[in-house]
Amino acid sequence: MKKLVWTTMLRYILCWLIMHSGDLVLGSYGCLANGTTRSFLCLGSKVHQMPCHIPKNTTYVEIKLTQIILFPSRAMSSLHDLKRIMVSENGALQRIEAYAFANLTKLEEITITKSKSLVSMDRDTFWGLPKLRYLTISNTGLTVLPDFSKVQSAAFEFLFDLEENMHIEVIPSNAFEGLTSGTITTLRLTKNGITEVDKNAFNGTKIEKLFLMGNQQLKLIHNYAFLGAEGPLVLDISRTAISSLPENMLRRLKLLIATSVYSLRWLPNLEIFAELAQANLTYPSHCCAFKNFKKSKSEKNHLCNDSTIRNQEPYFFEEHCKDVIEVRCYPEPDAFNPCEDIMGFTYLRVLIWFISVLAVLGNFTVLLVLLSSRTKLTVPRFLMCNLAFADLCMGLYLLIIASVDVRTRSHYYNYGIEWQMGAGCGTAGFLTVFASELSVYTLTAITLERWHTITYAMRLERQLRLHHAFGVMAFGWLFSVLAALMPVMGVSSYMKTSICLPMDVETVSSQVYIMLLLFLNVLAFMAVCACYVRIYVTVRHPASVPDSADARVAKRMAVLVFTDFLCMAPISFFAISAALRLPLITVSHAKVVLVLFYPINSCANPFLYAFFTKSFKQDFFVLTSRLGCFKSRARIYRTETSSLHNGRLSSPKNSDGTLYSLGHVTHPH
Ligand SMILES: *[C@@H]1O[C@H](CO)[C@@H](O)[C@H](O)[C@H]1NC(C)=O
Ligand SMILES: *[C@@H]1O[C@H](CO)[C@@H](O)[C@H](O)[C@H]1NC(C)=O
Ligand SMILES: *[C@@H]1O[C@H](CO)[C@@H](O)[C@H](O)[C@H]1NC(C)=O
Ligand SMILES: *[C@@H]1O[C@H](CO)[C@@H](O)[C@H](O)[C@H]1NC(C)=O
Ligand SMILES: *[C@@H]1O[C@H](CO)[C@@H](O)[C@H](O)[C@H]1NC(C)=O
Ligand SMILES: *[C@@H]1O[C@H](CO)[C@@H](O)[C@H](O)[C@H]1NC(C)=O
Repeated sequence: MKKLVWTTMLRYILCWLIMHSGDLVLGSYGCLANGTTRSFLCLGSKVHQMPCHIPKNTTYVEIKLTQIILFPSRAMSSLHDLKRIMVSENGALQRIEAYAFANLTKLEEITITKSKSLVSMDRDTFWGLPKLRYLTISNTGLTVLPDFSKVQSAAFEFLFDLEENMHIEVIPSNAFEGLTSGTITTLRLTKNGITEVDKNAFNGTKIEKLFLMGNQQLKLIHNYAFLGAEGPLVLDISRTAISSLPENMLRRLKLLIATSVYSLRWLPNLEIFAELAQANLTYPSHCCAFKNFKKSKSEKNHLCNDSTIRNQEPYFFEEHCKDVIEVRCYPEPDAFNPCEDIMGFTYLRVLIWFISVLAVLGNFTVLLVLLSSRTKLTVPRFLMCNLAFADLCMGLYLLIIASVDVRTRSHYYNYGIEWQMGAGCGTAGFLTVFASELSVYTLTAITLERWHTITYAMRLERQLRLHHAFGVMAFGWLFSVLAALMPVMGVSSYMKTSICLPMDVETVSSQVYIMLLLFLNVLAFMAVCACYVRIYVTVRHPASVPDSADARVAKRMAVLVFTDFLCMAPISFFAISAALRLPLITVSHAKVVLVLFYPINSCANPFLYAFFTKSFKQDFFVLTSRLGCFKSRARIYRTETSSLHNGRLSSPKNSDGTLYSLGHVTHPH
């Protein structure tokens, strides 16, 4: 205390000396008092020290663009009329001492801004400011929040801006206690470096609007941060990294703004939002939750139980008793994210299980039989393995979707983000695109192989060898993997819908990608058709072919082409229209099309290409006879096959090539 007195005295003596050393003193310091407006302005880099001869009747002090390093203790203590202080753009300012702003009974406004070097403020900087109602501390280098507990403002309304102080990381307990006994109408803590809001941080305050927006590192608001506080009614946590809302303050909340808070994936139980009227959130699916949720207020007020109140006090009734209060929620669910479960209709939910189990079992059986067969691996068998594998992947995709659907049933809005953004959806999307591309590719390869084998049946030198098939399929795998990886790498996206298909056509590149896939599929379909026509023409011409076989071959071809078409046509049609941004159906209906038509090939392929062919039956019975069943059937098939080797289509040389082929169909259905 003694030291303080001495330094103060010294400063006064110094000031007195300076003041009386010449007329241009004020000018040389760049400080200027204006008696009419009762303002005092210090401006420019010539000012290195806080002036101490400020007229006593000054109401406004501005310190701007100076080289002042230290804001001394009690620099303004004699200015009893002071109302506003503006300290801005003082690049050199490093420290504000104790009692810098103390006992200024008329002071209403303090602004300290754009002082990047300002790293510390004494605990007692703000002291006894009963009229203070506007405090701004922005763009400083402060590392800890100053102490406001001795401000003790009694202003009715208080505005506090604490913005862009990148080094303030924590809002500690009781941070704003003692700031004001009134209401803090706006507490703007935006764009700081805040990472954490402690327990009891807002203890002892009444807050109307709290803005924490733009604290990009802010991960945690303690669940009890608002313990001992009244309010806030408005909370803005946009552009933060919060993953859960502090539940004990949500009851009072009227407006919640949480846009671009991608980490906030879970909403608490909606019952907790008792007063909420509007929510601006990040994800549309969260608004689904509010859409389905009707609040009932009538139980709160016993006056509402009086049946006459509605007619006598309509305004009161409207305000307090109305049964259904809808929360206005943005962004509203869009076409891609309608408020529904993954499988919006019950029959779809049943059907998808049936189809997926059929596809998985069918293709798994085919794979098992083909791989365990002891006969030599042939080109058709190799291709069949690939086809079965692709279709198995498709079955797995459907199984994944179906099981997620069951798990999230009637609460999809809360799981939606996690699912669509997560690895699960990415995996499912990858599986389905990979499977469909590989399936179409292999189907085309199988058809081409048949056509080739039949066309060049008698020319040994042009026969397909296994290594050709390996090469062709290696390319197919590479292509399918690449096609399926594109949405993962940012061309289109699997996150757009709950069924994880690349339906995102927002950018030109994703549009091109989707169109290219569809175009290739249509091309493959046309190639398959052309091959079948050629095959039909080829096997029809030789006089040796009997009519009945001819008809059978034709019928079989028709079935193959038809299922392929059934699968391709609706999907391609709607997908092309969607890719051109002229969607003809909603996503809800697209799901029906997808579940019904998309997997048709995967379900039907095992039957059309394996189960109904004789050679597969032979393999099957041989396998099962090894396991002890169907021994007699296996024998029959063995003899039949050996006789087949002398059949019409298969010369002994290419019997391999046609084993899984048209000639051996028994029943297409
Ligand atoms: C004080 O401010 C008033 C109003 O801005 C202005 O008219 C007047 O010239 C100023 N006086 C001095 C001494 O600068
Ligand atoms: C304020 O005090 C200064 C002298 O210190 C004087 O020149 C000026 O007129 C006063 N202003 C008012 C409005 O009283
Ligand atoms: C403020 O005023 C009160 C009483 O008027 C006094 O006790 C206190 O010491 C003063 N504080 C400062 C920092 O001048
Ligand atoms: C909350 O503030 C009150 C005074 O407003 C104080 O008594 C209490 O200790 C504070 N609580 C905590 C946990 O700091
Ligand atoms: C909330 O979102 C709606 C729709 O985007 C917008 O009109 C409104 O201004 C937003 N409200 C706030 C407080 O951001
Ligand atoms: C109003 O009446 C309902 C039943 O009619 C009752 O459950 C509720 O507690 C009552 N509310 C008040 C505030 O009395």
